[in-house]
Amino acid sequence: MNNMFLIYAHRGSSIRFPENTLPAFTRAIKDGANGIELDVQLTRDEQIVVFHDWTLQRITGRRGKISDYTLKQLRTMDFGIWKHTTFAGVRIPTLEQVFKQFTGKNIMINIELKNFFAMRNGLEKKVVELIRLHNMEKQVTISTFNPFSLELLHKNGCASDIAFLYFGRLKEPWKYAKEYACTYIHPPIQEITEELLLSCGEQGLKVVPYQVNTLAEIKKMIDLGTDGIITPRPALAYRLLHGT
Ligand code: G3P
Ligand code: CA
Repeated sequence: MNNMFLIYAHRGSSIRFPENTLPAFTRAIKDGANGIELDVQLTRDEQIVVFHDWTLQRITGRRGKISDYTLKQLRTMDFGIWKHTTFAGVRIPTLEQVFKQFTGKNIMINIELKNFFAMRNGLEKKVVELIRLHNMEKQVTISTFNPFSLELLHKNGCASDIAFLYFGRLKEPWKYAKEYACTYIHPPIQEITEELLLSCGEQGLKVVPYQVNTLAEIKKMIDLGTDGIITPRPALAYRLLHGT
């Protein structure tokens, strides 16, 4: 997958499917994505589950956060119906379920560690161990907004590519990416300029922007020459790239 343009489906094909669920990931591959982006957190009993928000309110209507519940308790909740009644009964996936579904397939998985508010809870170690257990090292890129997490990934022997993920304006982001031994940077789309791409290229860093939401934005990123995109609309990107 080295030189292929990466189409990461952001939380799966999350425009029409419930984000961060197996149906959204399966749909992403049908839509032509060659990667999925997903968010992970730890449950109360330290299982790695795929979920974005800091609280359960928006998706399930329940109080509290992922770390307040065990996996068994979370599995009684509905993670699909909020999107549409046809998705009633969709359950929260574990990272292991996602690995089992995609192992050995030509699909990249961008795991974003959602630990900004729950630092030093052991998520990095657990994710690295699970990747090792399933031999997913080469299929995975890990990203996080949390620089302490980048250090912990290395300390725990992470053998996967790591992406330096950031938001807002950051001067010379490639310096941080190199400092933390990252292979990629994941900037917000607003930060993509020819100069940024040139500087990252000189440093041997690949650039994959996120918040690439519209057809015009996807086209602009392809034309500028990014190494991929993170988009909730992988079908649009596939059509632009392959003309079908
Ligand atoms: O890939 C980066 C992007 O997913 C970060 O933003 O809030 O959608 O996780 P968020
Ligand atoms: Ca994310």
